[in-house]
Amino acid sequence: MPPSPQSSPPDTPLPDPRDYVQDGAVLIGCSRQGHDLVPECIELRLANRHGLVTGATGTGKTVTLQVLAEGFSAAGVPVFAADIKGDLSGVGAKGEPKPNLVQRAQEIGLARYGNAAFPVAFWDVLGEQGHPVRATVQEMGPLLLSRLLELTEPQEGVLNIAFRWAEDERKAGDPKMEILDLKDLRGVIDEMGKQATALRSKYGNIAPATVGVIQRSLLVLESQGAEKFFGEPALDINDFLRTGPDGRGVINILSAERLMNTPRLYATFLLWLLSELFEKLPEVGDLEKPKLVFLFDEAHLLFNGARAAVLDQIERVTRLIRSKGVGVFYVTQSPSDIPDRISAQLGNRIQHALRAFTPKEQKAVRAAAQTFRKNPELNTERVIQELQVGEALVSVLHNKGEPSVVQRTLVRPPMSRVGPLSPQERQALIVGDAANRQKYAQTLDRESAHERLKARNSTVGQVKDKILRFGNLFNLNR
Ligand SMILES: Nc1ncnc2c1ncn2[C@@H]1O[C@H](COP(=O)(O)OP(=O)(O)OP(=O)(O)O)[C@@H](O)[C@H]1O
Ligand SMILES: [Mg+2]
Repeated sequence: MPPSPQSSPPDTPLPDPRDYVQDGAVLIGCSRQGHDLVPECIELRLANRHGLVTGATGTGKTVTLQVLAEGFSAAGVPVFAADIKGDLSGVGAKGEPKPNLVQRAQEIGLARYGNAAFPVAFWDVLGEQGHPVRATVQEMGPLLLSRLLELTEPQEGVLNIAFRWAEDERKAGDPKMEILDLKDLRGVIDEMGKQATALRSKYGNIAPATVGVIQRSLLVLESQGAEKFFGEPALDINDFLRTGPDGRGVINILSAERLMNTPRLYATFLLWLLSELFEKLPEVGDLEKPKLVFLFDEAHLLFNGARAAVLDQIERVTRLIRSKGVGVFYVTQSPSDIPDRISAQLGNRIQHALRAFTPKEQKAVRAAAQTFRKNPELNTERVIQELQVGEALVSVLHNKGEPSVVQRTLVRPPMSRVGPLSPQERQALIVGDAANRQKYAQTLDRESAHERLKARNSTVGQVKDKILRFGNLFNLNR
């Protein structure tokens, strides 16, 4: 049985976040069914069947994400969430009993409503608002990198050659020819340009114009701050799977305020993270509760202008990551932002209000209404437009995994702060997170392709290089 709401006693004892998790389900809010208030919950064992949170701007999406993050954390499930406006950071501070929140608690008869802070870890691709998150260029791979560089297919072909050539060089006795950061990639592309004629017979045509385009795209990427992201120490995704000393899951918050200025970097980075989780986590099948819940805000950016190969990858990762124990919740304004084949995999649904002024919006509302299992008591299409802030249509997976009948639901108020942390509060939490700080604060710049190519291109370097290669081939340098 899910947690049941009761009328709140006058002297509310200290709240326990775990109150909102009972019998393997996380409370989202309550619906009114006749004279009864009925709790609406996400079942932990079905949270890896993913979800979708939608609604127009200002309708309560971020607060709903906060409620989900709190609930999963309280259930001992670590969370990863991108924080687009900085306001989700408040989950790390104890909230205040503001009148609108207390009123909501009373409306849904929430017993013992009170405030609490949640365990958080802050991350930032740009390394300012959290621990730096890095990946090596090799880990990201040519498919995602091409998307980042906005390359055409022939240009992507040349990028593929760069990866293959560097790999062949490593195999041929120069193990340090690794492409770790953007300097390395630039070095490899430059070198391929120079050796185009020699490389043609083995790898195919490497047109100078194409090399030029890739170099220019790399410059643009660097100017967007991406050189901070590529390099080492690379993120170990196991660091997203931690729980605090009291057993609550750590809520990993990616600061995305500045990152959102470069939407393509944001979307590609999150897709890379999902792919990493998918590749690195072991197969576990269906668990009692997920190992991680991934809240993907502004998810439409993932699909905007994505090529078929990227869409295929998103679909594949979304489908298969389930058996790695990861639940993904996409968050966007309208369900029509998500391609059907991906949308079909998102079982738990929370729909906040949508506006329908233009014919296109009206169509989107109709389509959104049709995705729900019908409730004869509700005119879904009308209700979607009437929903108040912090109110949503909710349908979750239950029993054998079928969707529940859609219910008009008042989302519970969060226990943590609604609104951002101050810069001082955030810094204190980052500094206090010693383990991640020690591991990630300093950039590591070991010898790789950039240095190797520079050495090879000097006269002394060429001699040394020959000796090194022979040495490595005959195991003399070990
Ligand atoms: N469940 C709730 N209980 C009480 N108040 C709520 C609830 N949800 C939202 N609110 C109120 O509505 C305000 C706006 O909500 P929120 O920031 O979640 O909207 P949003 O959809 O994320 O907006 P945006 O699109 O601008 O980011 C909150 O600051 C809060 O005061
Ligand atoms: Mg918001």
